Amino acid sequence: MSKTVEIIIEGKSYQLPVIEGTEGEKAIDISNLRDMTGYVTLDVGYKNTGATTSAITFLDGEAGILHYRGYPIEQLAEKSSFLETAYLLIFGELPNKSQLEKWESDIRRRTLVNEDMRKIFDGFPVNAHPMGVLAALASSLATFYPAVIDPNRDVDANYLRITRLIAKLPTIAAWAHKNSQGHPLNYPKNKYNYCENFLYMMFALPVEDYEPDPVVVDALNKLLILHADHEQNCSTSTVRLAGSSHVSLYSSVSAGISSLWGPLHGGANQEVLEMLEAIQKDGGNVEKFVEKAKDKNDGFRLMGFGHRVYKNFDPRAKIIKVACDNVLNRLGVNDPLLEIAKKLEEIALKDDYFVERKLYPNVDFYSGIIYKAIGIPTDMFTAMFALGRLPGWIAQWYEMRKEKQPIGRPRQIYTGATQRDYVALDKRG
Ligand code: ACO
Repeated sequence: MSKTVEIIIEGKSYQLPVIEGTEGEKAIDISNLRDMTGYVTLDVGYKNTGATTSAITFLDGEAGILHYRGYPIEQLAEKSSFLETAYLLIFGELPNKSQLEKWESDIRRRTLVNEDMRKIFDGFPVNAHPMGVLAALASSLATFYPAVIDPNRDVDANYLRITRLIAKLPTIAAWAHKNSQGHPLNYPKNKYNYCENFLYMMFALPVEDYEPDPVVVDALNKLLILHADHEQNCSTSTVRLAGSSHVSLYSSVSAGISSLWGPLHGGANQEVLEMLEAIQKDGGNVEKFVEKAKDKNDGFRLMGFGHRVYKNFDPRAKIIKVACDNVLNRLGVNDPLLEIAKKLEEIALKDDYFVERKLYPNVDFYSGIIYKAIGIPTDMFTAMFALGRLPGWIAQWYEMRKEKQPIGRPRQIYTGATQRDYVALDKRG
């Protein structure tokens, strides 16, 4: 017999179904609550609300577990490639050899963007933030490829749209960077794999030879895999909510990019580096900044610390910390910011304030240091996160559309003025 829970409202008892996930997560299904009782639930920030069932990513914040389609993130980061992981997330299974070859080749031959899109870059200010450019250009794809196709009807068109987006976003991101430098834009070179191509478009200059460094390629591959999905986070929920109106995939992803930009979400990796630089500039007194973070009147937070769901440790931060050391050692980079980061971590992890609130370094704490070491400018950090998160957004959008989920439309509890009559201007005090 399926489980139920009893709730009693105004003395009347109601049975609500219990939904149990494959990893034992339990939820009370309130989808008929309003019809049954006239009540809705209130959960600002969705701290206790499951917005969907999903078979893509499993995350246990208390135990520090992250799985994509059942595969532990540690194994994927060590053994998989970003494009293989993207296939897994979007289509549900690891590809076989021929599926992977086709997938990689279908993406490889769509890396060029329409020449008319190039002209859009000219309209942005020189110092335009790459995330603004990325969101605008991702959205503009919907105007270059306007057909809105039902994912349940035209599977091939959908595949085309997905490969196109994965192929073109790195080109757009690298061009946003080149444009901000006033450098000529590099066209993709399809002899390169996904990560190599991105690095080539980011860093190659017409005046000198450039070959992507395998150490850097490997680090980038890991970083992208670690960011590839994180179930119903702010930007992913945005993608699902926007897509639930049946707007195109490109527009939905553009909404996700905008949401990711915020400093409490993907924007944190940029803020981490800026914070470390500020501490360095101030003389390197880490204790002073820890105290500032604890002072409620100060407003300063330790960026890269804390997470909405990880209340033990962030498994991605563990992998990245090792990757970070490797990259810095192998590239021979001696970064004083890393010393500040390590000291900050050490002090904060022992401090009662952070221990009591279960605030640990998150994935963004170390990713910025790696990006800096491999030459990515600070204002591109969040765009790097967006490139990594893209397969997750697509997978979540695809799942939502294939399941024919209804348009998302939360309720509210109104707390404003009750009905009153309009007051003429000369009668207002
Ligand atoms: N520094 C200092 N204090 C903090 C920090 C921090 N980084 N994070 C949380 N706290 C404190 C809060 O002030 C609060 O204290 P209180 O209980 O005394 O009022 C308590 O810890 C709980 O914090 P909330 O903000 O309620 O936790 P929430 O789950 O809503 O927020 C968040 C999580 C947004 C990530 C928060 O920890 C934060 O702002 N961190 C810094 C930004 C950051 O690194 N974001 C990246 C997240 S990872 C990602 O998006 C990939």
